[in-house]
Amino acid sequence: MDTVYKKADSQAIEEAAAIIRAGGLVAFPTETVYGLGANGLDEKAAVKIYAAKGRPSDNPLILHVSGADEVSGLVKRIPSEAEHLMEIFWPGPLTIIFPKSDCVPYATTGGLDTVAIRCPSDEVAAALIRQSGVPIAAPSANASGRPSPTNAKHVWEDMNGKIEMILDGGECSIGLESTIVDVTGEQPEILRPGFITQEMLEHALACAVTVDAAVNHLVDANIHPKAPGMKYRHYAPHAPLTLVEGAQEKVVAMIGKLVKEEKEAGKKVGVIGTDETLPFYEADKVISIGSRRQAGEIARNLYRVLRVFDDTDVDVIFSESFSGEGLGSAIMNRLNKAAGHHTISV
Ligand code: TXA
Ligand code: MG
Repeated sequence: MDTVYKKADSQAIEEAAAIIRAGGLVAFPTETVYGLGANGLDEKAAVKIYAAKGRPSDNPLILHVSGADEVSGLVKRIPSEAEHLMEIFWPGPLTIIFPKSDCVPYATTGGLDTVAIRCPSDEVAAALIRQSGVPIAAPSANASGRPSPTNAKHVWEDMNGKIEMILDGGECSIGLESTIVDVTGEQPEILRPGFITQEMLEHALACAVTVDAAVNHLVDANIHPKAPGMKYRHYAPHAPLTLVEGAQEKVVAMIGKLVKEEKEAGKKVGVIGTDETLPFYEADKVISIGSRRQAGEIARNLYRVLRVFDDTDVDVIFSESFSGEGLGSAIMNRLNKAAGHHTISV
């Protein structure tokens, strides 16, 4: 298949909407990461998404709407917490889990009786959904197991030849996938951390919000994540990644020692450092993920940095680690998954 690549102007968005209506696949920008979209109410179109990504079919898709008023037709009921969260955080990087109505096919929800819905704030995404006239099912537009795409070039690397069209809307402003919150149970629970933090949700709902155990721990026989996607080792760079945590000077010293050892063993070594520590490392490839003082910058750069390492021939990668507070919770969740939870504490 020839993949059409276009800057996301109004004519390209209209063309993309026609492809969605006709049951095809379009990659489009959102404020979090690029999505790979299809008509979420069309079973055959949803199935094509799984094929293009190489994604297991039990991993459900998120439905994207252009306004909260589109939710009632897709769900059995709207819990009062959800009502509140939609009012405060939509449009924006928050996905909410609802009991699904019959019109949402099981092909979209991976066989679940619940459906995940989000209303992106990105203007291209909103226009595309509006003009398509259907909710758009969209996972991140990466090949399964690759870091999520934060620009259209990343999407091209993974999806060229597999989908009808890529809309280029520039760099994503957030760079990590949406927060997923489940309000169908007794207590609201975060299934995947993102830009909307636990503190923000607790403040909005004026109650405690728990975090699913799979967010901070290696998933094993005892931990069954509520978001099926969390059980897969996403975001894995080709070279094994090890995180080093502790006080800054100790981390720099430990990474320096590990780099030296690996080099002596004949390995090519990569390091993910920060603006503050970059000059201290002598590895084959050293990249700064941003300034320690700017969590937003680290979030924006994270997937791009992991992709850069996939394009080099390094054999091993060492990375600094970050505070798990606020947005740091999402950053450390993605880094830990990329590293298969392989951490050295100093
Ligand atoms: O920011 C985002 O959410 C991006 C952009 C494109 O909107 N989308 C995204 O989709 O990250 P994806 O497919 O890569 O991740 C969706 C996650 C998966 O972990 C999946 O298991 C979970 O959402 N999910 C979807 N429906 C669910 C449901 N009904 N119950 C629990 N988890 C669900
Ligand atoms: Mg994904």
